[in-house]
Amino acid sequence: MRNLLYLLIGLFVFQQQAIADQYFNVFSPDKKLQLNFYLSRDGIPYYSLNMDNASILKRGRLGLQIASGDSFDQDFELDRIDTISKSEPWSPIWGEEKHIASDYIQMLVSLRQAKFQNRLFQIEFRLFNNGMGFRYLFSDTTVLTNFIICDELTSFPLSADHKAFWIPGDYDTNEFVYSYTKLSDIHSLKERKENDISFKSPISDSTVQTPFTMKTKASNFISIHEAGLVNYPAMNLDVNRTDFSLKCNLVPDPHGNKAYLHSGDRSPWRVVLVARKAGELLTNRVVLNLNEDSKLKHTDYIKPGKFVGVWWEMHIGKSTWAYSKKVNWNHDSDITNPSGKHGATTENVKRYIDFASKNKLDYVLVEGWNRGWENWYGSGLERIFSFTKSYPDFDMQGISDYAKSRNVKLIMHHETSAAVTDYEWQMDTAFKLIAQFNYGAIKSGYVGKIIPRGEHHDGQWMINHYNRVLEKAAASNLMIDVHEPVRPTGLHRTYPNFMACEAARGNEFNAWSLGNPPDHETILPFTRLLGGPMDYTPGIFQIKMNAYDPKKSEQVHTTLCKQLALYVTMYSPLQMAADLIENYEQRMDAFQFIKDVPTNWDTSIVLDAEPGDFLYMARKERDQANWFVGAITDEKPREFLLNLNFLDPEKKYQATFYRDADKADWKYNPMEYEIDQKKVKSGDKMKIKLAPGGGCAISILEIKN
Ligand code: NOJ
Ligand code: CA
Repeated sequence: MRNLLYLLIGLFVFQQQAIADQYFNVFSPDKKLQLNFYLSRDGIPYYSLNMDNASILKRGRLGLQIASGDSFDQDFELDRIDTISKSEPWSPIWGEEKHIASDYIQMLVSLRQAKFQNRLFQIEFRLFNNGMGFRYLFSDTTVLTNFIICDELTSFPLSADHKAFWIPGDYDTNEFVYSYTKLSDIHSLKERKENDISFKSPISDSTVQTPFTMKTKASNFISIHEAGLVNYPAMNLDVNRTDFSLKCNLVPDPHGNKAYLHSGDRSPWRVVLVARKAGELLTNRVVLNLNEDSKLKHTDYIKPGKFVGVWWEMHIGKSTWAYSKKVNWNHDSDITNPSGKHGATTENVKRYIDFASKNKLDYVLVEGWNRGWENWYGSGLERIFSFTKSYPDFDMQGISDYAKSRNVKLIMHHETSAAVTDYEWQMDTAFKLIAQFNYGAIKSGYVGKIIPRGEHHDGQWMINHYNRVLEKAAASNLMIDVHEPVRPTGLHRTYPNFMACEAARGNEFNAWSLGNPPDHETILPFTRLLGGPMDYTPGIFQIKMNAYDPKKSEQVHTTLCKQLALYVTMYSPLQMAADLIENYEQRMDAFQFIKDVPTNWDTSIVLDAEPGDFLYMARKERDQANWFVGAITDEKPREFLLNLNFLDPEKKYQATFYRDADKADWKYNPMEYEIDQKKVKSGDKMKIKLAPGGGCAISILEIKN
């Protein structure tokens, strides 16, 4: 960390009739963003943000209420303001970029409340060229030792009725389809029923989730999120449809309280990202930069890679997680009644291991290996799963030895069914077992209602649980991929074993519901993925579910080539090749792209993008000269001119184009594709056509002499 220079800041006092504000401002390193801090005459702190001299956020409230009444909300006096300019470049061990710059101006505002024994409260702002973060520091360790947050007053007053990309506010799930409307048209109670999943907010008609991304009339983009969510509940936003201001709505516990804190604690960062073009949002690293550096001493075991697994076959109904028919729950006795459809058999798992080994994929995931699946869904029981006992047809030792001999690592599945207290009880023994059998990672899951009852997926109790799992996993040299967690906030910088999570509506919905509309994957990178990698599970080649059962009408809402392009546009260091082996074996020419595409990058470039419409990206493989392009569109066909000016002019390349056939279409003809190859060099230009709901994936591999 280098402290470049201390800045003197101006103090202006504005004298108007009713208010007498103290006012301070700072500018971003490039001087284009201006952050203002105000303290009103009644001692209420506010802030505002401008970009290029235009307002991004008007005066937004700062502060918190605490249950005992002695709140951090008003009657503050200014103690001091310290400003400093910092440059803290860093290099993640995996990611979309090898080196990340982090230049910002920090403004630390120290306030005191005379009525509470001059108690100290600080607000720390960090202003980057492309965004800002601020957090509350409960710095006084003498006056108040512990307290309960009952409301956070933070607001984000937008300057106009922007177009917003949003999902309904919810304390437990984010597996929704996106809407895009003006702020004044957000109605998150409007029910959109799809199978048994209802798309409405259980909170209010105007609550939405973050990352909450907007486009202004001037075509600037703003996204509001948080960073470094630790020991605090997640933030939803209440939208005021009339004045376009958003207010923080924290996830409550069963008593309606929000957070239990001690003095010395701090809130997560409130983050505002800005971009003059949509694509700039995707290369914005402010969320990561606001997170703390890695806490992990040993990271050798953290290896980005690709996996196949006993997974999609259950989602399409070919096999089951459970070993037996549905019987009264009992870990030991229900296994006497095998259904004959169990997926995680030793033989089947070995088939996946063989396929992974043959195709140089790193990992094999196995779901349904352990006891409890007979009663996993909706039972609401205290104890559902054993995380140490396997089903009788899953030979733990044999499979582990086999995987080792084939140079493949296993990923263990821990579905908790949200019975989290039980999981906490079993975790230590479970993690020991995993280490003993040479697994590389855990995929966990939290389907259902949280136990302890009344807690929410996104509340403080669960936030602490997810983070505890990351720490325990690190102690056992395990990587983590979480399903149904809170949406990510860049914590993978601090815990680089936190590879990916779901926290959005993944590809699985296409197997058993009306699915994800063709624009879904063009929105996710601009919203959910701003917080961190997503285990979207791309790579479905058999698009139509009636191939498995003529009665089925479900389908994946993309072409096959778009599934390939997702490996570039939807970042994750652990990427699944999600389809069945037999579907890949029929199309090994297309599978070649999945074999070639890496999961760890040197550089990532957005060629062009418009959320909800299209996204064209190029990424350079980490420590290699190879490039990969992914281009995806919504339901509309598109054409664009690909300029290969990002290639190294000194090098020669062989490009392979995996493109939609001329008559391809996500609905009517999704699986027809063409593969062409040609030699390319820097500066070459070519037209790329995308089918409705289609995509194009291109590998550009260096020709070595
Ligand atoms: C939901 C997860 O998203 C999915 O990947 C998993 O297969 C099921 N839960 C069962 O745990
Ligand atoms: Ca899920």
